[in-house]
Amino acid sequence: MTSTETGIASIGLHLPPLAMPVEELASLRGVDPDKYLVGLGCSEISLCPPEFGIVDLASEAARRALSRWDGDLEDLGMIAVGTETAVDMSRPLSAFVAEELGLAGPIRSYEVKHACYGGTLALRQACEWRMSGAARDKAALVVAADIALYEQGDPGEPTQGAGAVAFVVDRPEIATVGIDSHAWSEPAFDFYRPVGESYPRVDGKLSLECYKKAAVECFNALAEGRDPAEVMERFSAICFHVPFPKMVRKAFHLVGEVAGWSAEKIQQLYSEKVEPSMLWNRLSGNSYTASLWIAVAQALQGLKAGEQVAAFSYGSGFGSEILSLEAGPRAREAAWSQDIERDVARRTRVDASGYDLLRGAVRSAAA
Ligand code: CAA
Repeated sequence: MTSTETGIASIGLHLPPLAMPVEELASLRGVDPDKYLVGLGCSEISLCPPEFGIVDLASEAARRALSRWDGDLEDLGMIAVGTETAVDMSRPLSAFVAEELGLAGPIRSYEVKHACYGGTLALRQACEWRMSGAARDKAALVVAADIALYEQGDPGEPTQGAGAVAFVVDRPEIATVGIDSHAWSEPAFDFYRPVGESYPRVDGKLSLECYKKAAVECFNALAEGRDPAEVMERFSAICFHVPFPKMVRKAFHLVGEVAGWSAEKIQQLYSEKVEPSMLWNRLSGNSYTASLWIAVAQALQGLKAGEQVAAFSYGSGFGSEILSLEAGPRAREAAWSQDIERDVARRTRVDASGYDLLRGAVRSAAA
């Protein structure tokens, strides 16, 4: 089996039922709203009501992906869920999702953890499993889902969010995931959540440095001695993990400076290839493992078969990888766009006092 016979056959997305404009948080914290809007580039924070959790988020994205695929549950041989919102230290989130979907039998089921990089690892493992022949023509269901919440008042609070993306990995109707990718990892404590703690501990400034270093290393490896600007021009979109949009801007600018591009060239490539892929991320907020794949799903919409997308994945701790995808014949239809349009149209917007109440309810539910 060759790489051209494996890839993304369908996509499903899900955002939770609540959202708050970052201006509301700014009023609550007594901060100039432009710090969040301009300084960080954030717009809205997706939020979950107390009765809605990671299993609901992940399962609905999976249902939507499965509904757009022409196979049956019996045709799946793997379910892998990338997340850092695990609900159990032993039982994988995939078991909770499989239960919701009625998925049981000769199927490998597991959770992948590497901070925001876990979804990418799950997707790559599914592709490699099929390409190796071990799948014996079975398909994989891959889900990347997270709820990103920080302690109230934490500098990361405006970057919160939630979201889920699911892929059926089978024939590459939507996109081929290229076998060539470039990884870079370095052990660091930039962002981590010790066992038993509800919120991450974040060394914000270190996390920015780690992310930028990872981006430079991965993009350098992707260029492999070729003119990096020409390599970038080849892509219709260059997608990043989006902890907050300004982070992506900073990292891409550094990649360009290291490559020796002029300020104009950096800005041109950023405006044409990078910034447009973050519209849905601005509506979801940070969704950790799902963040990059929400950007990729947005970028794939309407592409002609053969057009290419780059995907830079980063997970604190830290691990990173850059992948290339090539649009398949059904990217053009972009059936998954309606998921975001519908969820955004239906969700309830909460204000500052609603958010305060919600955080209180989440805390007592966790106690
Ligand atoms: N108007 C416009 N801009 C303003 C402003 C105003 N009134 N006030 C401040 N700003 C600007 C600042 O100048 C700054 O811009 P530059 O970075 O371009 O200088 C920007 O707003 C942010 O200001 P601060 O640096 O003071 O922000 P902060 O320290 O309060 O918080 C943060 C920033 C540390 C990144 C925080 O949001 C955080 O901890 N986030 C979580 C960690 C994170 O997302 N890290 C990213 C890499 S790690 C990763 O990718 C994993 C993951 O998903 C978490």
